[in-house]
Amino acid sequence: MIQEPGRILHNTKVGSVYYRMGLACSGKYEEASPGQFVMIHAGEGVPLLPRPFSIHRLVMSGGRVTGIEILYKVVGIGTQKMSSTRKGDTIRVLGPLGSGFRVMDGVRRVFVIAGGIGVAPLFFLIERILAKGVDPRECHLFLGGKTSKDVLCHDDFDKMGVRIVLTTDDGSAGNQCLVTHPAEMAADKDPPDIIFACGPAGMLACVAQIAAKLNVLCQVSVETIMACGIGACMGCAVDGQDPDRYLHVCRDGPVFDSRLLKWGSIYS
Ligand SMILES: Cc1cc2nc3c(=O)[nH]c(=O)nc-3n(C[C@H](O)[C@H](O)[C@H](O)COP(=O)(O)OP(=O)(O)OC[C@H]3O[C@@H](n4cnc5c(N)ncnc54)[C@H](O)[C@@H]3O)c2cc1C
Ligand code: FES
Repeated sequence: MIQEPGRILHNTKVGSVYYRMGLACSGKYEEASPGQFVMIHAGEGVPLLPRPFSIHRLVMSGGRVTGIEILYKVVGIGTQKMSSTRKGDTIRVLGPLGSGFRVMDGVRRVFVIAGGIGVAPLFFLIERILAKGVDPRECHLFLGGKTSKDVLCHDDFDKMGVRIVLTTDDGSAGNQCLVTHPAEMAADKDPPDIIFACGPAGMLACVAQIAAKLNVLCQVSVETIMACGIGACMGCAVDGQDPDRYLHVCRDGPVFDSRLLKWGSIYS
């Protein structure tokens, strides 16, 4: 993990409040895994602290990793500042950080569940799943958002050939329901070998419950407010099943086996 100046390759608006940012970076990212993240500081002044963002995809050139792309939603001061940066500007990037999704050998039927901007690390994840030899028709993506404007990357996933079930809370695209609803129905009918999920806390708690009910392996990417991203500030502590120690999302996660987390206390 290193901190380096990242030259912005592009910073493109892809929706009402969503942007894709490409950043040139060192060969360190050859080893990056999906679910890992970077801490980004968009310039001097406020906010003082960097902000965490998942690696959305690797930027390749001549067979080598020459950069990363992040997909972000503008929610506050840090992301607003990021949205005003331009191609050629330089920002501070620390990464790759944390521990990502683990795609085991031999998995055949896979469910990936995305809620809103939680989709960000899942493009890179699905690339890895398919690289492991999983048939795209056995990779089921449940892609949900509040409205059609909050459903991202649909066309990119479509090109990968994976099976997509689209949902929105207001019915403006796909089925009008929570994304966990069709996922649970499909899992009840024919359980997957593993579930991967990223999205809001309530969605993750529900996914963990479905996995526990069916005794299916499940990995979730958890979000907390982070100050350092490297295990120094202890600000990202969450309760795990082991009462003797907290889990630190930046260091022990952000991706966890869902059985390790104490859901009732984290997302009550
Ligand atoms: C491991 C990890 C990976 C992430 N990956 C992405 C990503 O790929 N794309 C993306 O858009 N966002 C991602 N996030 C969330 C992102 O870090 C926050 O949206 C960002 O820090 C907000 O900064 P801000 O200065 O714009 O907002 P602030 O001004 O700091 O806050 C604005 C509002 O957002 C809330 N908020 C801030 N951070 C979080 C958070 N982590 N979780 C929930 N609410 C928060 C605050 O409580 C406040 O209400 C990730 C978070 C983590 C922990
Ligand atoms: S963010 Fe500082 S310890 Fe995790």
